[in-house]
Amino acid sequence: MEWETLLKEAGERVQEVRDRLITSQEGVERVGEGAGGDTTMRIDKEAEEEILDVVRQKGDVRIVAEEAGESGPADARWTVIVDPIDGSSNFERQIPFYCTSIAVLEGKTLDDASHALVRNLVNGDTYYAEAAGYATKNGSQIRTSQVTELKEAMVGVDMSKSSLQLVASFNQLVASTRRQVHYGANALEACFLAEGKIDGFVDVRGKIRVMDMAAAYLIGKRAGAVFSDREGRPVRPSITVKERFSIFGAANKTLHEKMLEKLRGG
Ligand code: IPD
Ligand code: CA
Repeated sequence: MEWETLLKEAGERVQEVRDRLITSQEGVERVGEGAGGDTTMRIDKEAEEEILDVVRQKGDVRIVAEEAGESGPADARWTVIVDPIDGSSNFERQIPFYCTSIAVLEGKTLDDASHALVRNLVNGDTYYAEAAGYATKNGSQIRTSQVTELKEAMVGVDMSKSSLQLVASFNQLVASTRRQVHYGANALEACFLAEGKIDGFVDVRGKIRVMDMAAAYLIGKRAGAVFSDREGRPVRPSITVKERFSIFGAANKTLHEKMLEKLRGG
């Protein structure tokens, strides 16, 4: 079966899990600890089981998943990167902003992502991209914004659990941009960048994981976003559950350069 069909099927199945568990306390019940180090809630576990069940149908896959960790042969053709629920804390508090995120890589770097899906589990909006095509939401093409002026830019900035020093390093960026937001599910926030709702997405805490970002990275790129690490270099995390890295994204090259200059203190 084609990856597009499998990823969309996995997204549907996660939606069913979420719709069943949203109405009770069962979904937030603690059921263990995930390979990524966070507490696993029932919704995380059940959602991930559905995804793995679907993507394993393809065969020749290595899995890198937030809850179950890494499995499958290291030399498999495909690596599937799974965050069953991105924004678990929002789900727990019934804040309507969380998603599921699944990426397929044919190679060893984020730039080898070949297929990606992020599904907003609150309204079912489905973001999808392939390496050779354009990014879509619910089947229609999406593009990043054309904003190039800092004073117009609305930027997603994740500063959660940051040191005072790191927070201080954002001073120039915060002072020069129009507004800063953090919605609490980085994959979905980066898809907001992809569709032009926001103009930048910045998480330079060194805490982001490939499970959080792999799918949105491809969707963002295919929509026109420019990503780097905090120094402006290519984003090159190793594709493992434990890896932590930074990402600095903007709607276009001009805005990316201006934002990066502010992060450097310029
Ligand atoms: C979290 C969200 C959140 C970010 C955290 C992530 P999770 O993912 O993306 O926005 O601040 O660093 O861990 O734990 O809900 O999958
Ligand atoms: Ca998660």
